[in-house]
Amino acid sequence: MSQPLLEANNISHSFDTLLFSEVNFSLNPSQSIAIIGRSGSGKSTLMHIFSTFIKPKCGVVKLFNKELYTQDDESIELLRRYDIGIIFQFHYLFKGMTAMQNVEVATMLSGGDIKESLLEKLEIKELMHQKISELSGGEQQRISIARVLSKSPRIIFADEPTGNLDNDTAKLVMDVLLDYIEETGAGLLLVTHDETMAKLCSQIYKLEGNTLINQS
Ligand SMILES: Nc1ncnc2c1ncn2[C@@H]1O[C@H](COP(=O)(O)OP(=O)(O)OP(=O)(O)O)[C@@H](O)[C@H]1O
Ligand SMILES: [Mg+2]
Repeated sequence: MSQPLLEANNISHSFDTLLFSEVNFSLNPSQSIAIIGRSGSGKSTLMHIFSTFIKPKCGVVKLFNKELYTQDDESIELLRRYDIGIIFQFHYLFKGMTAMQNVEVATMLSGGDIKESLLEKLEIKELMHQKISELSGGEQQRISIARVLSKSPRIIFADEPTGNLDNDTAKLVMDVLLDYIEETGAGLLLVTHDETMAKLCSQIYKLEGNTLINQS
């Protein structure tokens, strides 16, 4: 069997109070996993732990078979630049630049290229010359997805990527993400409130009562 892209063992984390403990998780090539749970249950925090941004209070995270939080800052920066793609719950685009310039920044840093077919599938090809400040929330969300996929990441972390979208556009975005992992062997970790979107993934976990429970 192939090695997991991401493996986490016995993860616990708290801010003022305990969020979760003894979380075990793994993500394999071409696998899609959804994490659902109530607002405030710690979904985004867990995703930040898996994706290099928060060191957990306890436990070990391995990315690409290498322990993550014992690596130096430079190695972690390289993982962020080349290997993982993060679609944040609140997307961070450069507002004064055009959509195309925003995608170009990512590909310039990572050496990827922008595929016209991707822009067409996301229905944003005609918007690429517009400034971010002139685009709707859902259009901006799809630009940030194009930006992440253009880096050709080995894992996509997507925090509510369909939060601002109507059902049809949300389904279109999910199809793009699932096609990408099937074609490239990347993994997808999706955090969502939307059970319809979660059901499109190969597994569903629920964060509830301070633990992560496999629902599938
Ligand atoms: N940096 C932080 N410092 C202190 N508390 C934090 C921090 N980040 C998150 N929290 C708290 O941890 C809890 C979980 O937050 P988190 O963002 O992980 O929830 P979530 O499940 O993603 O919620 P939502 O569905 O609303 O996005 C919340 O109560 C939040 O206030
Ligand atoms: Mg969240």
